[in-house]
Amino acid sequence: MLTLATIASLRNELRPHRQAGRTIAFVPTMGNLHAGHIQLIEKAAQSADIVVASIFVNPLQFGKNEDLSSYPRTLQEDQRKLTEAGCHYLFAPNEDEVYPNGRDSQTRVEVPVLSDLYCGEARPGHFSGVTTVVCKLFNIVQPDIAVFGEKDYQQLRIVRKMVSDLCIATEILSVPVVRAESGLALSSRNGYLSVSELQQAPALRQTIHDAANQIKSGRQDYSQLEHEATVTLEASGFRRDYFRIVRRADLAPAQADDTELVILAAAWMGPARLIDNQELDL
Ligand code: PAJ
Repeated sequence: MLTLATIASLRNELRPHRQAGRTIAFVPTMGNLHAGHIQLIEKAAQSADIVVASIFVNPLQFGKNEDLSSYPRTLQEDQRKLTEAGCHYLFAPNEDEVYPNGRDSQTRVEVPVLSDLYCGEARPGHFSGVTTVVCKLFNIVQPDIAVFGEKDYQQLRIVRKMVSDLCIATEILSVPVVRAESGLALSSRNGYLSVSELQQAPALRQTIHDAANQIKSGRQDYSQLEHEATVTLEASGFRRDYFRIVRRADLAPAQADDTELVILAAAWMGPARLIDNQELDL
């Protein structure tokens, strides 16, 4: 696997592949790779001839008091995992390469409405930072396919909306949430958890799962169910962020006659803000 730090060198490498008619699949990441990321690489390798990953801890999507400076950076280990998983090129630029004119004057890509809900409400500007960097990365790599994780459910929906609205010629594929044996969704931020917090953290997944089962067995008082789930999470040591039962079509609060639902939740365990979700069909 070749690691490239500049846009020009990556474009030079990819040009002959494209001219030879090879398809390109792209997996954007912020590094500190775990088995969840690796599933995306494997899906990319199954779906196209050439696999490109990126590692860039994107400052534009972190709030002022968030973990930009402490976000784990493990490039060498990541390179080894990517090579093993069948990745051909790693694009690992520094901030000046991605934002040569600074962050403040950067042209933004905004997906309205969807970006303001849930994680967007808790982290103002976050999704604008995500869509801006993903759009730039798509323009740099020009992939036929890009692979995202369903763990970041709202992010995936927003990226699909951006691609559709801006007529970007990239097909978006997704991979289900990859979990530890405990049920906890794998996340780079799990590394912030102490041993006892790690033991408590699977309660997020369990609470979502229990709520889904109650809905399947007929409960439709969604606001009350959301309230009960929040109480359960707090009793398990979480600080609340949100727990929402929404419809998949537009992520608006679910109504009693909706049949395609998803439960979206975020909660703080010690220093880590964890997210998880579960789709359900009635
Ligand atoms: P990051 O958190 O590194 O995640 C990169 C990709 O891996 C995302 O598509 C995410 O959904 C997926 N992923 C993470 N944990 C997963 C798990 N347990 N199971 C399945 N997929 C998982 O998401 C970002 O980076 C950034 O916002 C990015 C899109 C790179 C833009 O900066």
